[in-house]
This record gives sequence, structure tokens and C-alpha cells, in this order.
Amino acid sequence: MDKGKIMKDVITAKDVKLSYGSYEALHGISLNFHEDELTALIGPSGCGKSTFLRCLNRMNDDIENINITGKILFEGQDIYSPKMDLVELRKEVGMVFQQPTPFPFSVYDNIAYGLRIAGIKDKELIDQRVEESLKQAAIWRETKDNLKRNAQAFSGGQQQRICIARALAIRPKVVLLDEPTSALDPISSSEVEETLMDLKRKYTFIMVTHNLQQAGRISDQTAFLMNGNLIEAGKTEEMFIAPKKQITSDYLNGRFG
Ligand SMILES: Nc1ncnc2c1ncn2[C@@H]1O[C@H](COP(=O)(O)OP(=O)(O)OP(=O)(O)O)[C@@H](O)[C@H]1O
Ligand SMILES: [Mg+2]
Repeated sequence: MDKGKIMKDVITAKDVKLSYGSYEALHGISLNFHEDELTALIGPSGCGKSTFLRCLNRMNDDIENINITGKILFEGQDIYSPKMDLVELRKEVGMVFQQPTPFPFSVYDNIAYGLRIAGIKDKELIDQRVEESLKQAAIWRETKDNLKRNAQAFSGGQQQRICIARALAIRPKVVLLDEPTSALDPISSSEVEETLMDLKRKYTFIMVTHNLQQAGRISDQTAFLMNGNLIEAGKTEEMFIAPKKQITSDYLNGRFG
């Protein structure tokens, strides 16, 4: 974070509770996400990281018998308000999944897809955005001579960077990433990490990761969840050096997974 820059919260979650049927998976999570920072969500398997992440752009909406209470504000607007336009929200808050999920068509069309849906028809503008997004996601060099090639014919790491480019093409404010490197080999994983490092002053990233070294390397803020509760959140360097709670320290030191 640049010195002198005023920290702005892009997303504010207040007392978010979520139940799948009668099972309460989130017990009241309050957390703020700062503009142009990368927040890592960490915690043991099943603690609610993905559930919470999906609340932030209403990806849970279609699950049956789900009940969400509390408030989530995106730039001050209540995203669960009936007035919220879901298409607009997902344009502002994009998502990248654990398994690279390019569509089974060309690299070019993968990136252009969201732009076309957004009503952009100008071919020159689309060309320009495709190139810009692929460059931002550090995958231009490997795709520029193969834009017509099926995106699924690239390596896993390349596919994941194509998915990041696809998410960036519509110029979102926030990108949610659920374990974006866990399905990748170490080299691809570090390439995706570097991409996120390069971009995190331009976008607000919220990333679930099981890789604590990765969280330590690239996040500005870390939030530690356990059993559906937020145990502790704060500046990554402070939390990794001096966590406030013993249980956080135990987790960070690998005493339990
Ligand atoms: N669609 C669903 N229906 C019912 N229960 C669910 C559903 N999705 C998740 N859960 C439950 O909610 C809890 C939190 O799950 P979630 O997937 O958010 O955990 P997580 O922290 O992302 O775990 P992991 O690190 O393994 O991905 C778990 O107990 C899980 O079984
Ligand atoms: Mg998960």
C-alpha cells in the first residue's frame, strides 16, 4: 500500500451468517476488504472460506435452502438488496475458480465473451481489450500467435492465466479467487502468483488459499477462519510475525490443518 494513500473499503461484510438448510456454516463474519489490496482467506478445510467468498458476489444464490443474513456492501451498496442488479454486480466482482475453466472455444473468444455479453460490438475495441487483458494476466506472449487456438489446449497454468484475463477483460473492481493455484504445478503456480502480485495495485483481490507461504508472500491482509468464525484478521506481515491469538499461531505454525 502506497504511503499517504487513504485506505478505502471496497467490500464490507457485517455479521454475515449463512445456513445450508439447518446447518449454519458461517456464524457472523465481519470483515472489510481494502481497495487495491490482496486479502488472503485461510483456514482449515470446511471452515467456510469458499462459502464466504461466494457470498461476496452472490454466487450462493442458486443453492436451495440457503439462508443468508447480515450485510455485504459493495462500494456502499447493499448487494443483497432487491434493487441490486446481479449482472452489474458480477461485472464489478468477478471470479476465478480452483480448476481452470476456460470455455471450449478460442482464446480470443474466451476473453471477448464477457465483453460481448456486456453489449460491446466494436471489433477494434474488443481486439484492444483482448490484447490488454492477456497482457495484464501475463499470458500474451504465449497466446498472441495462437489466439484462434482452443483455450483448453493450453497447459493448466496457461489456462488459469487465460481465466484471469477473461475476468479482467470486463474491468472489474474486485476479483474473487478460490484456490487459484492449487491445481497447478509449482512453476505454473508461481507464474500465476507473480501475475497477481503485478496486478494487485490495480484490482482488489480476495483469494482463498491453503498455501500459507503463498498467503505470506502475496497478500496485504490475511483473514483466518475456523469453524465458520473469523478468528483474526489484519495486516499479513503483522499476523504472520505476531498473531494475536494462540490458535492463529498454532495454525500458522502447522500444528493443525
Ligand atoms: N452446497 C452446500 N450444501 C450444504 N453444505 C455445504 C455446501 N457447501 C458447503 N457446505 C458445508 O459448509 C461448510 C463450509 O464449506 P466450504 O466449502 O465453505 O469450506 P472451505 O473452507 O472452502 O473448505 P475447503 O478448504 O475444503 O475448500 C462445510 O461443512 C461444508 O460441508
Ligand atoms: Mg473451499
